[in-house]
Amino acid sequence: MIVCVCKSVSDRKIRAAIAEGMNSFDELQFELGVAMCCGKCEESVRDVMEQSGVCASRCGVEQPVSVAPLTFYERKAA
Ligand code: FES
Repeated sequence: MIVCVCKSVSDRKIRAAIAEGMNSFDELQFELGVAMCCGKCEESVRDVMEQSGVCASRCGVEQPVSVAPLTFYERKAA
């Protein structure tokens, strides 16, 4: 599916770029040109990032997939 119409960038291309190590929105923007014209695809690009397990915010920190919160006693023991 085309995510960025202006630059003809698909979700597969974004996922491939993430698999190659691009882990921030800024990198994807720089390398693929997404969200550089009209900017309407930004949320969709961030959605693809999130689905790929990459933090979709500007921090570039990877999000844990599904980590259950620690209980009070687990935090105390740590
Ligand atoms: S749709 Fe991506 S910049 Fe316009």
